[in-house]
Amino acid sequence: MAQPKVLLTRRWPEAIEARLGEVFDLTVSRDDLPLDADQLKAALRDYDAVLPTVTDRLSAPIFDVASPRTKILGNFGVGFSHIDLAAASARGITVTNTPDVLSECTADLAMTLLLMVARRAGEGERELRAGKWTGWRPTHMIGKKVSGATLGIVGFGRIGQAMARRAHFGFGMKIVVQNIPAVAPETLAEFGAEQVGTIDELLPRCDFVSLHCPGGAENHHLIDASRLGLMKPDGCLINTARGEVIDQHALAQALWFGTIGGAGLDVFEGEPDIPYALLGADNLVMLPHLGSATRETRDAMGLRVMENLVAFFEGREPRDRVN
Ligand code: DGY
Repeated sequence: MAQPKVLLTRRWPEAIEARLGEVFDLTVSRDDLPLDADQLKAALRDYDAVLPTVTDRLSAPIFDVASPRTKILGNFGVGFSHIDLAAASARGITVTNTPDVLSECTADLAMTLLLMVARRAGEGERELRAGKWTGWRPTHMIGKKVSGATLGIVGFGRIGQAMARRAHFGFGMKIVVQNIPAVAPETLAEFGAEQVGTIDELLPRCDFVSLHCPGGAENHHLIDASRLGLMKPDGCLINTARGEVIDQHALAQALWFGTIGGAGLDVFEGEPDIPYALLGADNLVMLPHLGSATRETRDAMGLRVMENLVAFFEGREPRDRVN
């Protein structure tokens, strides 16, 4: 039987591309740029499997292709809010993602942002590199203590729990959780965590708030001006989930007017474009969507997509099907 035709929309780790090439008739998008609407439509028309990433916007109109050849979208990443699942299902296309393998590294990065914001690490480094450091003094760049502080976690799935583990056992933080559906008491007990019913209850109680909920329409601007107004005046907001979860305009205002203490963002609405108002905010640490960006994790993500694909084309149910 002919090998299935598979398209990688971006470059993947070399070793994984090589392994995919042994099993499939593989095409790699050599210029490593996000595919535009026409290219995505052509991909659905011409390939048995398309392996997209967060940079490929597979909205409903993209699936409007006369006779799509694609039977599976093997997303390289756990988040899939860039794929219209209903439209994919309507065309009989299976969608899979890569859970589990990136939880640890994404939580590591959320903790990195939390520490950087609390201890003003971005500001400090900028000052030093600009040649503006005049030496040690007792009142210089005073931050906020992390150990023993209260961390609110919105979304208590795999990554939220990995964050709680780091914060609670590594830094003695108290954990407050909000999740839909409610979290089982035995899971909360693992982290000595307390559960609240709503985000509005969680925000005023926390020194730090870390977002680990899915993106997409259901959580669009979940953190808006009124919710930012519920945070403590020195509270810090961390986002490694999806950019659309925060109203960036409202966040910029809160940072500029000092109604919250600071923020750490790894994801942005409309990335890679960053609003000008955010770029100038000193109490904000920004990273270019690096959550899963370690050699080990990116290899593991690639292998997880491959496992899903092999199962699918052997007629088995892929373990990470999301539609
Ligand atoms: C993920 O896996 O969701 C990362 O954010 C990359 O898309």
